[in-house]
Amino acid sequence: MNSPATVASPLSKLPSSVEDRFETWLPVLKDRLQDLYGNSAHYDTWLQAFVKSICIEAFNRPPHLRQQDQERATNPNWHLELGLAYVAYADHFAGGLRGVIDRIPHLKDMGVGYLHLLPFLKAGPPPNDGGFAVASFEDVDPRLGSNEDLAALLAALRAAGISLCCDFVLNHVSDHHPWALAAKRGNESARRRFHWLATPSEVAEHERHLKQIFPETAPGNFTWVPECQAYAWTTFYPFQWDLNYAEPEVFSDIALALLRLANRGIDAFRLDSTAFLWKRLGTPCSNLPQVHSILQALRAVVEIAAPGVLLKAEVIMPTRDLPPYFGLASGETMPSTAQPSIHQPECHLAYHASLMAASWAALAEEDAAFPKAVLRATPTLPTGAGWLTYVRCHDDIGWGVLRPECLDLNDPDALRLKAASSFFSSSNPESYAEGSPFQSSDPANPHGTNGMLASLVGLHKAHQSGSPEQLELALLRYGLMHALALFVGDLPLVYMGDEFGQANLSPEAIKLRGGDDGRELHRVVWSDSIYQDRLNAGTVSGMAWGVFKRLSQARSRMAATLSHGSCSIYAGISDSQHLLCLQRGSSVGLFNFSSQHQILDWRQQPKELTDWMTLKGVAPPQGLGPYEARWLHIKGME
Ligand code: GLC
Repeated sequence: MNSPATVASPLSKLPSSVEDRFETWLPVLKDRLQDLYGNSAHYDTWLQAFVKSICIEAFNRPPHLRQQDQERATNPNWHLELGLAYVAYADHFAGGLRGVIDRIPHLKDMGVGYLHLLPFLKAGPPPNDGGFAVASFEDVDPRLGSNEDLAALLAALRAAGISLCCDFVLNHVSDHHPWALAAKRGNESARRRFHWLATPSEVAEHERHLKQIFPETAPGNFTWVPECQAYAWTTFYPFQWDLNYAEPEVFSDIALALLRLANRGIDAFRLDSTAFLWKRLGTPCSNLPQVHSILQALRAVVEIAAPGVLLKAEVIMPTRDLPPYFGLASGETMPSTAQPSIHQPECHLAYHASLMAASWAALAEEDAAFPKAVLRATPTLPTGAGWLTYVRCHDDIGWGVLRPECLDLNDPDALRLKAASSFFSSSNPESYAEGSPFQSSDPANPHGTNGMLASLVGLHKAHQSGSPEQLELALLRYGLMHALALFVGDLPLVYMGDEFGQANLSPEAIKLRGGDDGRELHRVVWSDSIYQDRLNAGTVSGMAWGVFKRLSQARSRMAATLSHGSCSIYAGISDSQHLLCLQRGSSVGLFNFSSQHQILDWRQQPKELTDWMTLKGVAPPQGLGPYEARWLHIKGME
């Protein structure tokens, strides 16, 4: 079975470009599937049916999306040239999917070319982890709109040149998903789609090797299901049942669900919690080699049937675990001009969670050691792959990703992370920050921190204090954090509300939401009045928006000079504890994490410098003010 024709004779009308892609990618797909499922009974029959279904989806791809696929194929970096990314809950942002259409002018104003809407497919009943407990891969959640609303939104976004990213929760489903319901009814094949343990001692044996994602609100990784008289594997909440990817039907159904969404016009899929897709007793069950076989098979499926579509790895793991998600060997880097090998490609994008956490640690410590260590461990990526950087998102700042850097920095007990975590807690009288620790019952293990950007940098507190000096410093911190993410990222992501300094959700509003997930602190609702205030420079919103807008405009001017997938420590300035000096292509980014002025010790004074903020020629700056960030172009430097 080497060509689609032998499996899909009824589909002989596939365009020749699809036939070519089959020729290239079918061997990759078969190779990965053979590794994963070659030993299962009925493997050949299953494979034949699966490939036929892929043909059908390739055939069903609407002409305008096929044309878009072709255009995108001519520029494998198309998604790294989209400008900014933006992430929001559709309901908090705009009341639902239709409402998002009305926010398009705001997105355009910000320079956004990629919109990630948090889960909008039908979820299980609340609590559903903000929609991450999915009950249908086909239908929009009625709380957010209808399938027609999604189609209307997609058309409006396409007309505006904005790509839509959809959360694709493939590690688990809601215990109200039809597969889970069928398993509860005793359907054997549905039951095989999940992982089951029979006894408490088996559970204990597995738990010995596993981490806890939500140690306070959802302790343990297994949940007793009375209807099944067994423990289901539930890495996250008890109502999120992990899928068993050792079952070939799980993989094929999930891959086809993704293709069907792609054929509706979704441009990118955020592959949620991908690190956990494969389980093996005696391991932490994260980042196992089979995870990469699954993702490479998924990439092959996409390359065959919907090649203009992006896969984004949501892998909140240390930097050193990330190269394989781009198809690189661990620790491997690629010269930025190299072509990706046809045998390896995996995801197009991945979150740079370590850089995000490191930038917060640096702010707390007034010391750039963590981001430097992270960036030294960050590989250069192949063509077509890029880093998604961010300051905040709907999740907590997870400190655990920095454990390897703690070892590099001679801090095996992660005391520095514990200090950072405590620094951002609003109960710390020494700090300007108004954050809150997340899942922090184990004092030996700094877990996470919640809060909106403006609250964490102390902007609102400073405004209330009436001190112009404090306000100025808080605003500089706000700008510094954005400036770093916007400089390093191939696709820098802005979290809804952070562009104009929205504060944490009020305790009253959190109470009304019910539940005990501390991340609600920063899951704010778009406020029209705060949005309007952005035009009033006397308000926090106006000040924050002013800073953000200048940065976003400067970034779009600078974008063409930034090398893709690579950012290194700039060698032209002597290293200093408080400063982070970076180079991307012919631009440098200088960041002072300290509250004090710092001298810049240029090893060699560059001749022609342009400031990206003003587009004016400048002399090499001899220092940076407190929390100051500068983006400069150096003529002739590459
Ligand atoms: C991802 C999401 C997070 C969710 C988890 C389980 O990490 O970002 O919000 O709780 O997956 O689906």
